[in-house]
Amino acid sequence: MAYVVTEACIKCKYTDCVDACPVYAFREAPDMLVIDPEICINCDACEPMCPVDAIYGDFEIPADQVEFIQINERLSRTAPEIEYSIDPHPEAEKYKNIKDKKHLL
Ligand code: F3S
Repeated sequence: MAYVVTEACIKCKYTDCVDACPVYAFREAPDMLVIDPEICINCDACEPMCPVDAIYGDFEIPADQVEFIQINERLSRTAPEIEYSIDPHPEAEKYKNIKDKKHLL
């Protein structure tokens, strides 16, 4: 089991989640963060930190976000580790209330 970053993160990348992770499981892809499922210890520390509610446990993920389990697995193989929070995506204010963003990945 692991936690998963979902569609709401796309072009937001607030990164508040990163500082909460005790095992440095977050990876920074160009348009979203993902969680490496091989590293995540399922502690739930990151989930409440996200201002746009992008993070779910894989056991509770909404049906329309299930594909992000594979997206987190795939992108975490190549995206670099991120250890500390940074400034949000430059277009975060524009995209934070947009739900349909999968096509932007
Ligand atoms: Fe993304 Fe939320 Fe983290 S927007 S970078 S999952 S705080």
